[in-house]
Amino acid sequence: MRRGRRLPLEQLQPYLLQVPPPSRDAALSKPADSAPLRWPDLFGNDHPVEIEIGFGKGLFLINAAQAHPQVNYLGVEIERKYVLFTATRLAKRGFTNVKLACCDARGFLSQCVATDSVHAIHVFFPDPWWKNRHRKRRLVTADFAAQCARALKRHGRLHLVSDVAEYFAETQEMLARISDLNALPMSELPAPEVADRYLTNFERKYRMEGRPIFRSLHAKK
Ligand SMILES: C[S@@+](CC[C@H](N)C(=O)[O-])C[C@H]1O[C@@H](n2cnc3c(N)ncnc32)[C@H](O)[C@@H]1O
Repeated sequence: MRRGRRLPLEQLQPYLLQVPPPSRDAALSKPADSAPLRWPDLFGNDHPVEIEIGFGKGLFLINAAQAHPQVNYLGVEIERKYVLFTATRLAKRGFTNVKLACCDARGFLSQCVATDSVHAIHVFFPDPWWKNRHRKRRLVTADFAAQCARALKRHGRLHLVSDVAEYFAETQEMLARISDLNALPMSELPAPEVADRYLTNFERKYRMEGRPIFRSLHAKK
């Protein structure tokens, strides 16, 4: 990642959400113990809200926010360097429909996002964390899947993309157990027709490596 081009923090503030740190003992499936965010207060309008979790360098957020100015996008990313990098890209383009939260998305969903309030949740290439001792860092767990289902509005979509067959299969089993969700038929992410129109930076990297890419879409009943 190129450093040094980041805008001063004051110019990034309009994009940065002040998130209360999730309480350490909060079980992911526990109801929020502080008031959830109110989207109209955050975005200044009542447009639909979509959340991207683990947005990395922000390619999807930037393209989606540009293509759909009537949709509000909230990115949640645990790494501050990516949050500041993406906030700089957003500020340089002057977007007004994107906010970024720097925190663990698992606590964020359970504590800050109201039930039935989100039109879509996107999770692209979540880290597989292969080693047993790192497994607890995995994003998509049964609790996380249940939190996504809770947060989505009726007919809201959960969009998941991964290059890791085993992890992807596990996520599909977890999602299948959630009675509120319906799987929509879709197994593969089509390669972009134009070479530089990738969904995310990781999609570009993995396509170049020739890896298969798996995709699922679930809708809340
Ligand atoms: C493999 S990268 C994919 C980045 C981006 N989605 C893409 O496709 O280019 C996974 C991203 O998820 C972020 N991440 C991992 N665990 C997270 C969590 N619990 N909450 C929020 N972000 C997380 C990582 O910091 C990283 O940016």
